[in-house]
Amino acid sequence: MGLLEVENLSLQYETRNADIRALSNVSFAVNPGERLGVVGESGSGKSSLGSAILGLVSFPGKIKSGRVLFQGKDIALMNDKELEKMRGEGATMIFQDSRASLNPLITAEEHFRDVFRYRFGKESKQASREKAVALLKDVGITDPEERLKQYAHQLSGGMAQRVLIALALAQSPKVIICDEITTALDVTLQVQILDLLKELSEKKETTFILISHDIGVISYFSERVMVMYAGMVVEEGATSEVLSHPYHPYTKALIASLPTGEKEMLNAIEGEPPSLSQEFTMCPFAPRCSRREDRCFSEKPPIRVRDNQKIACFFDI
Ligand SMILES: Nc1ncnc2c1ncn2[C@@H]1O[C@H](COP(=O)(O)OP(=O)(O)OP(=O)(O)O)[C@@H](O)[C@H]1O
Ligand code: SF4
Ligand SMILES: [Mg+2]
Repeated sequence: MGLLEVENLSLQYETRNADIRALSNVSFAVNPGERLGVVGESGSGKSSLGSAILGLVSFPGKIKSGRVLFQGKDIALMNDKELEKMRGEGATMIFQDSRASLNPLITAEEHFRDVFRYRFGKESKQASREKAVALLKDVGITDPEERLKQYAHQLSGGMAQRVLIALALAQSPKVIICDEITTALDVTLQVQILDLLKELSEKKETTFILISHDIGVISYFSERVMVMYAGMVVEEGATSEVLSHPYHPYTKALIASLPTGEKEMLNAIEGEPPSLSQEFTMCPFAPRCSRREDRCFSEKPPIRVRDNQKIACFFDI
């Protein structure tokens, strides 16, 4: 039994104009302490997947099929108390805009106090301050007592992101889903935050699901990578394997878009992702794929396994 298992999950946003198929038959599992990266272009369903794992699908989204199992238990069958517990001690999510995720009217210390009160019940200010200071030290914040007195607008982007990570850790969750959390940071800060998450995954056995459109970030951080396209998983495997020999043409294009020393310009993938208001009866990547054949327009490739990698493409090269 995996810590978290997602089985054939399909999610639609049923808007007035169309049903948007944000996730189609997504399946994967993560184990304790594992670092999974989820990568794909804008609109590929990454954030929808993060929310669905927590049972927090936003209106007008509906789970159409499949399930999410947390420690073997289907979250759709959990009662309110179990769900609340799962969202605190089980899994939690951190978002890109760290300062906006903090309440501007209260200090960092009050944020911690709220989390501790919710998680452990009432306790003295001194006790919660000591725990908050220890957590801020864990995330590499110097002068934690001073930081606790500050409001969101007084924290830099990198500092606010560390405070959010510490607040997530305050609940001792087994899984932390990080949605584009380094996107707004400069490269040096990105590396510092990713190094911190790696250290936490090793020291505390916390499982991380890192969502990013940037395959560079994913390759730096994750042990396993899941590539998403048009709400589907198109390739999954050990990051080192997928990066050294990707099978899916979309993964190849993503890797080719990485800047290298001699190639500073990004090789953008030509064309646009498809509309998700249609049910795919063909390969959704076909209009942009350099490897496509006639078959790709008349059949949808099933997921198959090759060299321990899952691939949704008919061909190997
Ligand atoms: N509340 C909503 N109502 C209608 N459609 C939605 C809603 N939320 C997301 N979508 C649509 O679902 C699809 C997947 O969106 P999602 O935000 O999950 O993608 P993403 O990979 O996280 O994109 P990004 O990289 O831009 O954050 C998109 O077509 C998006 O427009
Ligand atoms: S199935 Fe065809 S169109 Fe789709 S990725 Fe493979 S080669 Fe390209
Ligand atoms: Mg998103």
